[in-house]
Amino acid sequence: MSLNVKDYIRTIADFPHEGILFRDVTTLFADARGFRIAIDQLLAPYAGARIDKVVGLEARGFILGGAVAHQLSTGFVPIRKKGKLPGAVISQAYQLEYGEAVVEVHDDALKPGERVLIVDDLLATGGTAAAGISLCERLGAKVVGCAFVIDLPDLGGRRLLEGLGHEVHALCA
Ligand code: PRP
Ligand code: HPA
Repeated sequence: MSLNVKDYIRTIADFPHEGILFRDVTTLFADARGFRIAIDQLLAPYAGARIDKVVGLEARGFILGGAVAHQLSTGFVPIRKKGKLPGAVISQAYQLEYGEAVVEVHDDALKPGERVLIVDDLLATGGTAAAGISLCERLGAKVVGCAFVIDLPDLGGRRLLEGLGHEVHALCA
């Protein structure tokens, strides 16, 4: 039987709040075959493309992005929640359902003209990814693509990123 990435992802009801169906990718990461399929499928559209760095969004984007970077033989750059990176950073705020969050990147992590692939586990409203794109672009890098395991299409993230002129690659909905 051929298995799909989606078959390895578990949905947990009422986490972190009542009424939320949380897509839990730890079961995908824990399965050797599932993890390999996910990494292979995440990078497949970029075969032959020039990618200088993979940028991962905290926290599950670090696990996926690290493996994708290794496979592409590129460096890896983390985008972290405010206050976690030790060096000089640039910051980008974005809207949450209630309030605001801030993500940061080291100000010397990307060089002007570098071509980057952004990786995360899940695209919901797109706020996190759009903030990540903005950080990369503020450092002069070119975002070649944004790759996710899961796209929740009803939440509008794909529309937002495509409206900003970026290609979205997702393995399942
Ligand atoms: C989740 C997910 C994405 C983001 C997607 O991370 O891993 O990074 O939310 O949501 P958005 O498209 O609406 O921005 P979360 O903020 O829960 O952080 P964590 O990975 O550090 O737990
Ligand atoms: N899983 C992980 N992160 C998320 C989710 C989810 O279902 N929804 C919004 N961010």
